[in-house]
Amino acid sequence: MLGTFTFHNPTKLYFGENALEGLSEELPKYGKTVQLIYGGGSIKRNGVYDAVVKILHDCGKTVVEDGGVMPNPTVKKLYEGVRIAREHKVDLLLAVGGGSCCDYAKAVSVSVHEPEDPWEKYFARYEDPTCEIVPVGCVLTMAGTGSEMNGGSVITNPAQKMKIGKVFDERVNPKFSILNPKFTYTLPMRQTVSGIYDIFSHISEQYFSGTDDNVSDALSEALMRSVVNASRIIVRDPENYEARSNIMWAATWALNNLVGCGKTEDWMVHMLGQALGAYTDATHGLTLAAVSLPYYRLVMPYGLLKFVRFAKEVWHIDPAGKTNKQIAEAGLSAMHAWMQEIGVAVSMRDLGATEDMIEGIADATILMDGVGYHTLTRDEVVRILKESL
Ligand code: NZQ
Ligand code: ZN
Repeated sequence: MLGTFTFHNPTKLYFGENALEGLSEELPKYGKTVQLIYGGGSIKRNGVYDAVVKILHDCGKTVVEDGGVMPNPTVKKLYEGVRIAREHKVDLLLAVGGGSCCDYAKAVSVSVHEPEDPWEKYFARYEDPTCEIVPVGCVLTMAGTGSEMNGGSVITNPAQKMKIGKVFDERVNPKFSILNPKFTYTLPMRQTVSGIYDIFSHISEQYFSGTDDNVSDALSEALMRSVVNASRIIVRDPENYEARSNIMWAATWALNNLVGCGKTEDWMVHMLGQALGAYTDATHGLTLAAVSLPYYRLVMPYGLLKFVRFAKEVWHIDPAGKTNKQIAEAGLSAMHAWMQEIGVAVSMRDLGATEDMIEGIADATILMDGVGYHTLTRDEVVRILKESL
């Protein structure tokens, strides 16, 4: 049975090969000065930067450059972005890139007019914004996080070895996002599949909680099947528009609140992955891939029937002649085979983790209490991390 919920997602989306035309429609709604946020230079190499800057100039905007947003954006970079926004009194933060640029733009948006330290207020204490919020727009170049249509922002504090995701309310969502699947063609395959696993994990982490039948879980199953199908095409044919567009759209719906409506959610794989990320600065989706199977194998007995449903609905496991445990295990084996097929079956060691980091990563892992099928003990966290190594 679906629980009580409110669904409100105010982000306007422009999707498709000509989606960038939407930028010309949106820009006149905002003031003159635009902070152009981007990463390490991929948008300069693939032509997206030139296309965006031309539209900004055509619309009469003053552009303030804010490049160099790193994957897993740091608190130090956040302070720099806030300084730039204050100095130029910017009217719009335009993120052109992946989840890191978009998350960073949102963190800047709630910090420009906030007198307190944003790390302390939002990421350490999880407080909500009480100040004016600078609007954010997004031109997405990597499919994965769903940041283009949610209020989430993940910031890393390397000195404290903490990577924290704050889920802001819809005031912090991008006002608009431009989604052109062709912009993702130039992604290195490792980033592509990392994003694909991130999408899959967002869905499965909302799915693996609760025992009722509800439409949110049915939507999740359809999305997971679609992600698996499209991923198999992309690894062979990276410029397949149909598959790229399905991945981009699935990513948005995987984490824009829809499939979590009216149900409890788990999120323990993300907690483990974020702690691993804080120690290794590894690519986000791959951190999730490294810890997923040991985690799911540990919790499977506590939520057996959902794992049976997952095996049948997502992986087409034939239940004939099998016990529930065998069906559930066959589902996880099929998931593992798919991860190997697309190249995300990695270990923590592959991502730079070493044995001596395990206790620290366990300490940095936030334990989700009572929302999934089983609340992990610290010993179980250590066991999962050792198995993931
Ligand atoms: O920096 P550039 O040069 O642009 O290169 C980027 C970066 O190195 C490259 N890239 C992006 N688009 C490209 C491209 N290269 C070639 N062609 C393109 N079209 O890809 C690399 C990774 O980019 P990044 O933005 O870091 O990836 P992603 O979208 O996976 O974002 C990861 C961040 O988002 C957070 C993660 O923790 C991580 O910090 N997340 C945000 C969430 C949210 N807001 O809801 C939820 C997620 O679970 C996630 O935690
Ligand atoms: Zn994620």
